[in-house]
Formats: sequence, structure tokens, C-alpha cells
Amino acid sequence: MSEKEKKRKGRVSKTGLSRREFLAGTGIVIGGAAIGGTALLAACGGDGETETVTQTVTQTQTVTTTVVGPGGEAIEGIVTLKVNGEDITIKTNDNWTLAYVLREKLGLTGTKRACDDGSCGFCTVLMDNRPVLACLVLAIETGGKSIETVEGLARNSANLHPLQQAFIDHDALQCGLCTPGQMMTAKALLAFIPNPTDAQVREYMAGALCRCGAHPNIVAAILEVAG
Ligand code: FES
Ligand code: FES
Repeated sequence: MSEKEKKRKGRVSKTGLSRREFLAGTGIVIGGAAIGGTALLAACGGDGETETVTQTVTQTQTVTTTVVGPGGEAIEGIVTLKVNGEDITIKTNDNWTLAYVLREKLGLTGTKRACDDGSCGFCTVLMDNRPVLACLVLAIETGGKSIETVEGLARNSANLHPLQQAFIDHDALQCGLCTPGQMMTAKALLAFIPNPTDAQVREYMAGALCRCGAHPNIVAAILEVAG
């Protein structure tokens, strides 16, 4: 990718390093402590780094990381937050996004990453009940916050959230990639305006794009739940 292209995509830092180049020069070692069963995972992250993760999923999840920067210095921070009602403590690199941590560290892959630059809305989650783009929120900023992802809408397929059922009933998806972001945005809308008009739904949902063109059915599904 040319320098011009990187700048256009907003991925070049003040130091002149792109995010990918920075991460490529960063060594990452991750270890975890847990109560209950553990799983040892080795994975190559989407940004090119190789990671070893020990993670246990229990009532309270703990993810511990040690991150070494290009010069050998530690780059890390500790935040405690709630995710779908569960207290979680994360020791995180200061440039990890909330979307990255949710997906790659906590296994909450319902939150999707597509543009990764705030353009599409696919990664929308609720932070203290307000919709935010998780690809633009740093995990280190989320201390004390309450995060809700699409996994928080329903614990199993027998007890779907009304929005989930309405999306099914109205065929409001095709590939489904945008659907988690659409539903989280819609949830925030209905909390803000319980009985919106068609125009209000279209305006509020304007930042939640659907490349499959399911917008008319998405609006119909939201209006049904509102009704
Ligand atoms: S992935 Fe966050 S807005 Fe597109
Ligand atoms: S259903 Fe495919 S992007 Fe919306």
C-alpha cells in the first residue's frame, strides 16, 4: 500500500508508522490465570502478530497480557469493565481497540470488523447504553464502563430478543455481517425513542450500512418491535 493510500485510510501515525507496521514490530506474549477449566490457544491475529493465549471462560473472565514494544519496553494497561453484565479485568496494550479485544481476547466474535475505520457500523456495541463504534474505541478507555454486545441480547436460541426475532421474521439480512451492529444500533434507538416514526428509524440507522441492501426489511423489523 502506498504512503498516499495509507494516509487516505487514516492508518499512518504521527511517527510515520502504519498500525500494521507498528504491530508487525511488536512482540506479544500473553498468559492467563483462571478458575475452572483452561484452554491454551495459539493464534495468528488479524494484524499479523503471533500470540499464545491461556484463557478460561467462567462467570468472571480474566485475561492477562504482557506486551513488549519495538524497543523492548512494556506497553500495557489494566482496565476493569463489565461485558454483558460480567466483570472483566483486562491488561491491555494501549493501542488495542475494543473490537479487537472483544473478538480476539474474549471470544465475542458476534461483534464484526469490516472497514475498521468507523465507516460501516458493523462493529457497533453499546457502551453505557449508548452505541459506539468498537473499532474506534481503545480498550484502555473502557475502564468502569458497561459494554453490551450482540451476545448479550439472548443467552440461547429459545429466548431470542424481540429484535432478533423481528429480523428473522422480516428477512432483514442476507449475509448477516452487518446484523449484530444493526441490532445493537436499533436497541439504542428504541431505548432513546420507544415509538419512532419510519423517518426517525431511517435517520438513526443511517450510519449502520448493509452492503446486501436489506435496509427496507431492517426498518420494517425495527418498526414492528417498536409497535
Ligand atoms: S468496522 Fe467499525 S465502523 Fe466499520
Ligand atoms: S446482511 Fe449482508 S451486509 Fe447486511
